[in-house]
Amino acid sequence: MILENNRKFERIGDEVDPSTVPYRTLDSGDKMPAIGLGTFGSDHVSHEAVADAVFGAASVGYRHFDCAAVYQNEDLIGRVLQDIMANGVEREELWITSKLWNNKHTPEDVIPACKQSLADLQLNYLDLYLVHWPFPNYHPPKCDVDSRSPSAKPYIHENFMQTWREIERLKQMGLVRNIGVSNVTIPKLELILRDATIKPAVNEMELHPHFQQPELFEFVVSKGIVPVGYSPIGSPARPERDRTSDDTVDIEDPVIVEIAAKHNIHPATLCVKWAEQRGQIPIPMSTKRRNYLANLKSIIENPLSDQEMAAIATIDRDCRLIKGHVFLWESANDWRDLWDLNGNINNT
Ligand SMILES: NC(=O)c1ccc[n+]([C@@H]2O[C@H](COP(=O)([O-])OP(=O)(O)OC[C@H]3O[C@@H](n4cnc5c(N)ncnc54)[C@H](OP(=O)(O)O)[C@@H]3O)[C@@H](O)[C@H]2O)c1
Repeated sequence: MILENNRKFERIGDEVDPSTVPYRTLDSGDKMPAIGLGTFGSDHVSHEAVADAVFGAASVGYRHFDCAAVYQNEDLIGRVLQDIMANGVEREELWITSKLWNNKHTPEDVIPACKQSLADLQLNYLDLYLVHWPFPNYHPPKCDVDSRSPSAKPYIHENFMQTWREIERLKQMGLVRNIGVSNVTIPKLELILRDATIKPAVNEMELHPHFQQPELFEFVVSKGIVPVGYSPIGSPARPERDRTSDDTVDIEDPVIVEIAAKHNIHPATLCVKWAEQRGQIPIPMSTKRRNYLANLKSIIENPLSDQEMAAIATIDRDCRLIKGHVFLWESANDWRDLWDLNGNINNT
């Protein structure tokens, strides 16, 4: 697929007025749209198809896009953002997130990495810049789940804070308006909050009905940090390396299927609707107009009842899908070592 130049938004009449989309206010006072489009093609959707979906999603009313350098499509998304703005959307109306990849944690790499994302995205500031993972561990794209980099390290707080100081500088330099973390646990966040000069505005974390992370969710909210929920549908098309035989399927859960049928929406859309109503910002990925439009509409129409919200709260299975195997260091036992399950940071 080749991206068209100078495209015009198609108007069918079923689009959502972006001014009606709810938002969450961050510490900075900035208003972050309460739903965004994910842009990770899960290793099988082409970069062009993802960029095309960004254009299509903007045409139906999305203004928030969750990008990352490691998705390797920021240059194409940058072209599309220009097209979106050429269709009359002001830069200030857009919310663009990007993320520092794990091989750029060395302090002198942080600012150049952000500048590269800005150049690729053809922007002069980002709305939000995240440290993608709290581990400085490089692995080649699409590598095998069992591969361990000999240079991989566990979380070392002093090192993370050196990276964070540069992230703070990006905000002071005006290159990014807000800064945040992703994939951090309570013990890591406690240390980061203790030592940060500028506290993280968001924690982007895996959140879907079968993985609700109630303790981390409550902790994040109690600290005035906004939870952003990735893989809100349970990432049904995630790469093979992120699948295990124990994984459960949110969109096949009978409670989800039944409530979705009552609302006359797809179970995937119900997961997005529940997420926004619970208080996290879902960032579902879709390349199909019908699906991304349904997801957007779901958060502004027919709220779930208290009973429906309560029923979904009971189906948590503590089923983490994005386990992070590839970030393991050589002496680690298994992926659980990444997630501080006993309340302590595992750095042995
Ligand atoms: N911070 C991190 O470490 C991290 C990790 C993982 C993901 N993320 C972010 O989170 C985003 C979303 O996560 P994800 O892509 O893993 O999974 P997801 O959003 O849970 O699921 C995406 C899948 O759901 C399908 N889908 C979407 N809406 C649908 C609908 N209404 N009806 C039926 N199917 C629907 C899509 O297929 P169609 O294209 O056919 O609609 C796609 O295959 C990523 O793209 C990325 O931006 C961040």
